[in-house]
Formats: sequence, C-alpha cells, structure tokens
Amino acid sequence: MPINQYGVGVGAETEKKEADFTDSIMDLLSIGRATLTKAKRQGWPVYPQFLYLDMNAGTGMLDLQDGRRVPGSPIRFLEAARAVGIACAPIFVEIKKKAFVELERNLLLASARAKADEDLLPLHRLINADSADVLRELMANPPARKPYGLIYCDPNGCEVPFEDLARFSQMPIFERVDILVYVAGGAFKRVATVHDRPRLLEYLSTIRKRHWAVRQERGPDQWTFLFGTNWPALPRKFRRRLLIHDASTDTGQTILHRVNTPRREMML
Ligand SMILES: C[S@@+](CC[C@H](N)C(=O)[O-])C[C@H]1O[C@@H](n2cnc3c(N)ncnc32)[C@H](O)[C@@H]1O
Repeated sequence: MPINQYGVGVGAETEKKEADFTDSIMDLLSIGRATLTKAKRQGWPVYPQFLYLDMNAGTGMLDLQDGRRVPGSPIRFLEAARAVGIACAPIFVEIKKKAFVELERNLLLASARAKADEDLLPLHRLINADSADVLRELMANPPARKPYGLIYCDPNGCEVPFEDLARFSQMPIFERVDILVYVAGGAFKRVATVHDRPRLLEYLSTIRKRHWAVRQERGPDQWTFLFGTNWPALPRKFRRRLLIHDASTDTGQTILHRVNTPRREMML
C-alpha cells in the first residue's frame, strides 16, 4: 500500500475501508447507546461512557488516489457518536509528529464546521505517542466500573500490538470492550512465509474474545476487518450482513481460511 507524506497508508481499498468503518461504528454505537440506556434504567454498575481508543488515528482527512478528500477514522467516529448521541470519551493516538499536527488541524476544522451547524462534536483527547503505551496506561489505571467500548487498530501493515491486546482482553474489567482490527491478510502471509513468523489466526487466537466476525476480504492484499467480542449475539447484528460474517459460520470460516493460508497451500 502506498504511504503518503505523513506516513499514512492510503491505497485502492482505503475508500471502502472507511465506508465499512462508518457503517460498523454506527451499528456498534447504536447498540452501545441502547445498552448504556438500559444499564442506567436498570441500575447496572457499568461505566457511564462508551470507551473508545483509536490506536492508529492518522491525519483525520485522507487524500485518495483520485484526488478526492475523505474523512479518516477519528472524524468518522466523532460524527457517528454525535449522530447516535452516545456518551463517550474517545481517545485518538498517532505516533508520527507530522501526522499528529495534521490530525489536530483537521479535528479543529471538523469541530468548527460542526459548531457552524450549531452542533458539537463529542469531547475527545488527542495523544501524540505510541498507542501501545497508551493501552498499557489504560490497563495500569482501569476505570472503577466495567465499560462498554471498542479498541480500533488500523496500522499500515502488520504492526498490530497483539501481546498488549492479548493482555487487555484477559482483564475482566475490559471484557465488554470489543476489539476491531483492520489488516492485510496478504502482508501477514508474506511475513509468516519469509520470516517464519506465526500466521494471522495464530496471532488472533492470543486475543481472548469468545466470538469473532470477519469482513469479506478486498483487493489483492486481502484487506479485512476482524471484530472480536464476548457478546455472542453481536457478530450477527451488523447491518452489512452480506459483507461482515460471524466467524463461526461456513462463510466466515472460508474467509478466515483464505486470509490466513499462503497461496501455495491453498492450491494443494
Ligand atoms: C493506515 S493509517 C491510519 C488511518 C486512520 N485509521 C484512518 O482511518 O484515517 C496508520 C497510522 O498509524 C500510525 N501508527 C503506526 N504505529 C503506531 C503506533 N504504535 N502508535 C500510534 N500510531 C501509530 C501511523 O503513523 C499512521 O498514521
């Protein structure tokens, strides 16, 4: 995937990734809002805000290969949260200084646009750091009550901090925080074959989530979303059922096999 001047990967699959992210996040936030409302009504002891950590925030706006500009994941999350009206405390983390400065600028512009429409984007935090450190910080200082939420990981290649995500998923306080990862199956296959590293599904199995959903892979590099949750019904609640499949179904299993298995083995 080509990397732009800010160090953000933008390729042929990016526009579809962003559209699928918006749809999925709208579903998850709508369900999250309904759950938080019910929890409040019933007096369940849950954290009152949806926890959201974007571990690879990028620049906030993306220049596509054909010259069009589209919002990236931070702006998409904020607009979805505003539309759904959920109480949330999103954190956006970007490691590269140049990309971070651009992210700050684009979020200020997005906030100003919302204000001009007499609306407000949810309050959020921007952090210029390694997001694995931010996740460790969260694990060291967990909230007093179990939050509902989502950790989103969208690196340029295969740099998913699986060890930290595995530790996070093992903490009972975070058992209701789902994990969404966007990766290229093809890149994992190359690294596994050339450097004798574990395969994508071996890494994924280290994350303790009882249920997974997988988006139909796209493009020659087999870009896919993997969504892990402990709530059995959730993988079937995505509105884009034709695209996002419960990993326990035949279709889900077939997609997982395709994104995990090197081509020479597929042909045997
Ligand atoms: C594919 S881009 C993210 C795009 C963004 N999610 C969007 O949809 O607009 C990946 C970004 O992750 C950043 N990144 C890579 N490793 C990181 C880390 N350890 N912590 C925080 N950001 C990181 C890169 O600098 C790059 O900007």
